[in-house]
Amino acid sequence: MWKFLNPIKHPIPSTRWPTVEEAALSLLFHPIKIGSLTLASRTWVPAMVPWRATEDGFLTQDNLSWYRRFAEGRPAALVVEATGVRDIPSGPLLRIGHDRFLPGLKQLVETVREASDGQTKLFIQIIDFLAVKRRPDPDKFFQRFLEITDRHREAMTELTLDPIWLRADDVQIRVALKDAGDDVLARILNERELESLRFGYRERVTDTHLPHVRELPQVLPSIFADAARRGRVAGFDGVELHYAHAYTMAGFLSALNNRDDGYGGPRENRVRLPLEVYRAVRKTVGNDYVVGVRFLGDEVITGGNRIDDAVYFGVEFAKAGMDYLSISKGGKFEDAEQPKVGQAVYPYTGQSGYECMPTTLSDARGPFGRSVPLVGAIKHATGAAGFTTPIVATGGITTFEQAESILRSGDADIIGMARQALADPDWFVKVKLGRGAEVRRCTYTNYCEALDQAHRQVTCKLWDRKELDEPGIAMAADGRRRLLAPTWER
Ligand SMILES: Cc1cc2nc3c(=O)[nH]c(=O)nc-3n(C[C@H](O)[C@H](O)[C@H](O)COP(=O)(O)O)c2cc1C
Ligand code: SF4
Repeated sequence: MWKFLNPIKHPIPSTRWPTVEEAALSLLFHPIKIGSLTLASRTWVPAMVPWRATEDGFLTQDNLSWYRRFAEGRPAALVVEATGVRDIPSGPLLRIGHDRFLPGLKQLVETVREASDGQTKLFIQIIDFLAVKRRPDPDKFFQRFLEITDRHREAMTELTLDPIWLRADDVQIRVALKDAGDDVLARILNERELESLRFGYRERVTDTHLPHVRELPQVLPSIFADAARRGRVAGFDGVELHYAHAYTMAGFLSALNNRDDGYGGPRENRVRLPLEVYRAVRKTVGNDYVVGVRFLGDEVITGGNRIDDAVYFGVEFAKAGMDYLSISKGGKFEDAEQPKVGQAVYPYTGQSGYECMPTTLSDARGPFGRSVPLVGAIKHATGAAGFTTPIVATGGITTFEQAESILRSGDADIIGMARQALADPDWFVKVKLGRGAEVRRCTYTNYCEALDQAHRQVTCKLWDRKELDEPGIAMAADGRRRLLAPTWER
């Protein structure tokens, strides 16, 4: 995991919790309209993948229980984890790419409605991603995966000054490369081949030599629109287009996108497909349905988008009619750490990953509300352009005082809490009832994120070994952790 050079350990901020009366008068617990809906308050749980779906993308009882547990805490909005829009295998991630997923998704909607007494609005985040392969065993890479070309023969000849390599067959080249040291490989393989060897093969939106990548602008609008239609049919209150982090749509928005087909290069071209996808979705679900977007306030990678790009996209999204903008930060593949052989690169291990889920081992600024200036810049730009589109701030927001002051400053309209809600799903109801002192405070040390990285069922270290003798509790596959936060006895 990436770390600052001389990190400072920040304490969890101490706070004064509001009384019932103070909570009732607060902006945080004041309703807000988003699109055609009214949220009962400005509290929000952003998407979190818990690794509980089946291998073929169906909801499990564990998924239902996970969302039920959040709904019991009554946040005004709950966003279901990144859910794949295509009907292709993608491991134990939820999918919405076919009607056969509808019964499970409907059950999820009913579960959340029932557990929150209809108080929590439920959105589903819909995502497309490109291929990412595990880091290969080097022998296998040279024996099977690497495509041998004359470029390799020429490079070998240049390096050894021996023209015999120009006539060498593939097997001879493979054997020579397998036995070569890193410095030799660096001179023979190109950048992408070296990356495939050291990190695992990874596609980008700029790989337009691949027909399925070239045709993304033609196919994605209808794929997303079909997924959104299913979201509406299943009964979700809205869909969230996942344009953030390391995935396809963020790839189109990225300043690294230099496609030359009108969908890359200048910002106006990079935002073109994201807007086309949105319009196709909107046309399918109608104007009376919430369609929001999650995108990055800063990609935090060399050559990537900065806040001025994000401000431009935010205004374009608001202008197009998106119902809310949820701002995240970083979470990219470009600066991720090298995975072990057999594992896939994880986009939250570099500095951009730190910025996505900041920990208490930080720089002087610390992890708390670290993204608020980015959110504020987008809020002020959309406001100046004449839009009132609600904006969700997330990232190290943990106390009522902090949330209320962000809202009062006008930097955001809604407060997202991911890890704090995982640590204590009852945060919202406890604070509203004047019982904030009973909140289980997130320590922001990312045990949960490490589980996500290992594709293990996500739990929180503050409760997953507690009260294991409680009758009927569901346990993780490793048999050592409870899967849900203990019930709060009011
Ligand atoms: C286990 C885990 C899974 C996550 N999965 C998603 C996801 O599916 N989609 C998404 O946009 N963000 C995802 N995130 C990022 C969170 O939504 C949030 O932006 C981030 O944790 C920072 O907010 P926080 O400081 O309140 O935790 C995930 C975070 C965690 C800890
Ligand atoms: S595991 Fe740690 S970082 Fe994650 S929610 Fe729990 S306390 Fe917070």
